[in-house]
Amino acid sequence: MSVMEKFNLKDNLAIVTGGAGLLGKQHIEALLEANADVVLFDINEKALEEVKIFFMQKYDKDVMALKVDITKEDEILEAKEKIFKKFNKYANILINNAAIDPKFEKESKVNKSRLENFELNQWNLEISVGLSGAMLCSKIFGVEMAKNGKGVILNIASDLGVIAPDQRLYKKEGLIDSEQNVKPVTYSVIKHGLIGLTKYIATYWADRGVRCNAFAPGGVFNNHSDEFLEKITNLIPMKRMANIDEYKASILFLCSDASSYMNGATLNMDGGRSVW
Ligand SMILES: NC(=O)c1ccc[n+]([C@@H]2O[C@H](COP(=O)([O-])OP(=O)(O)OC[C@H]3O[C@@H](n4cnc5c(N)ncnc54)[C@H](O)[C@@H]3O)[C@@H](O)[C@H]2O)c1
Repeated sequence: MSVMEKFNLKDNLAIVTGGAGLLGKQHIEALLEANADVVLFDINEKALEEVKIFFMQKYDKDVMALKVDITKEDEILEAKEKIFKKFNKYANILINNAAIDPKFEKESKVNKSRLENFELNQWNLEISVGLSGAMLCSKIFGVEMAKNGKGVILNIASDLGVIAPDQRLYKKEGLIDSEQNVKPVTYSVIKHGLIGLTKYIATYWADRGVRCNAFAPGGVFNNHSDEFLEKITNLIPMKRMANIDEYKASILFLCSDASSYMNGATLNMDGGRSVW
């Protein structure tokens, strides 16, 4: 097989969780460009519809957009049957990408993002999507990959899955310490946890042809304030955040036979931030 052929995903069926979000759309595009069929799971119905229309118009290609809450096992199982009905097979690629972007009330004097104020229900909610959801999808689709003798599971971690957040990035002038925003503890725990899940699965089904790797991207530029940009770029040797489409080639590499001997690894792609 030629090198270029190894990147071809013809006859592959991929699931992207949280596929209607910012990066999910990019992952889908990478898979579609390599000729895969794609199913996306998301809870945001409006965004699901928009993504479907976007790919129909841009590539004249359909994607199967399913409203699935990945914290609910019965919804994933229902989706599994719908996928089988449509494609007569289960997915051989799973990208665990969904996450909750935590929002905290700005008016409140008690900053709930801070560890000393962090509420257990918020912890449970975020863990249920970022970690439990990834485990459930891996379990439900991974077992079919193992039966079939081939598959790839890719967990989307973060540079904050390998390093600690630098809370100075989120500091705002004029606020006392107890009011300062921080990157929540859940983010570190989920992203480090996904790398643990990756190693577990990578060894669990290795003899059944299922590979599992993690991807640890740095922050994507998304109209951040000049103040934040200046601070974060000082932490990145390449002095910039990622462009939105810069991860597509890595996603394709990790999901295809181009990475056929890669298993249990974490691919860091963060402009060098995690090595500084
Ligand atoms: N954007 C970045 O700069 C960046 C950097 C590093 C890592 N990441 C990681 O990449 C992934 C995607 O990030 P993003 O920026 O596209 O986030 P996003 O918030 O735009 O997308 C996440 C998607 O997950 C969906 N979702 C939430 N709960 C769900 C549930 N219970 N079931 C199904 N879907 C659910 C949301 O509706 C949303 O569409 C995340 O895991 C994130 O942590 C992002």
